[in-house]
Amino acid sequence: MTNAKPPVSVIGLGAMGRALAGALLSAGHPTTAWNRTAEKADQVAGARRATTVEEAIAGSELTIVCLLDDSVARDIVEPAAGALDGRVLVNLTSGSPIGARDWEERIVAHGAAYLDGGIIAMPEAIGSAEAFIFYGGEEGVFRRVESTLTALGRPIWLGDDVGLAPGYDMALLSGMYGLYAGAQHAVALVASVGGDASAFTRELLVPWMESMVPFAAGAANPEGYVPDSFNPAMQAVSLTNLLEASDVQGVRQDLTGHLHVSLNLMRRAAGVA
Ligand SMILES: NC(=O)c1ccc[n+]([C@@H]2O[C@H](COP(=O)([O-])OP(=O)(O)OC[C@H]3O[C@@H](n4cnc5c(N)ncnc54)[C@H](OP(=O)(O)O)[C@@H]3O)[C@@H](O)[C@H]2O)c1
Repeated sequence: MTNAKPPVSVIGLGAMGRALAGALLSAGHPTTAWNRTAEKADQVAGARRATTVEEAIAGSELTIVCLLDDSVARDIVEPAAGALDGRVLVNLTSGSPIGARDWEERIVAHGAAYLDGGIIAMPEAIGSAEAFIFYGGEEGVFRRVESTLTALGRPIWLGDDVGLAPGYDMALLSGMYGLYAGAQHAVALVASVGGDASAFTRELLVPWMESMVPFAAGAANPEGYVPDSFNPAMQAVSLTNLLEASDVQGVRQDLTGHLHVSLNLMRRAAGVA
């Protein structure tokens, strides 16, 4: 009996691809890598450099793709897809639900199995307990490669539909960007009244946002329904005041987009056009 870990191939050695390859090597998986800028393979100690994409795919039962975007990934993988027959392709390039379903169709047509993934981590966290990665695709395929994928971060299988992974990935990013937009506007507003933005951030904004996240996220729902207990008519007036005051203070208007979302929800709930 052998404890040898299965080999893995990684296509794409940007910041994230290098982190993925490094984590696989640290976990003991012989790793073959291909990248357009071939020298980047030298930054991943222990990786075997493939000279072509076909050679990389042929080197392992499992190939992980992590490139800039779906269109780059398609241009790189498609011409070599014949080599995928009988293998598994996991695409960790950020994409969209419809793009993932299109990928699956094309890859399955080449006799391979396909999983789509969404990485919820910075490259530095890959391989650690705090990193997690969403996967969508046939459960049997996921279970086949699950223990290998664990080397990258906690794998979370969402279901058979490959579109689930990019959908969940984008949803978490939306939550993050919403927070960022709120924080950015808050800091600009405090600076506009002559406040100390850094003390405000440290002592007030961060604790406030931390305490409000469960409340705000917990109240969200797919229909955008606002409960009466929120007093949406009052909130609509308050948001209008906030927008007008912000404008008068000279805060850049492009920082207020998130306030318009809430204003529209409150107005609709209050029956105000
Ligand atoms: N970095 C993060 O924090 C993070 C977090 C979650 C998810 N992701 C996702 O991971 C994916 C990769 O991100 P990254 O941080 O590794 O990006 P990156 O450092 O910019 O690397 C981009 C990769 O795509 C390749 N590439 C770009 N244009 C190409 C082209 N025209 N032809 C061939 N190869 C091309 C680059 O090759 P060269 O080296 O030759 O330029 C490199 O391998 C993205 O989809 C990103 O959304 C990243």
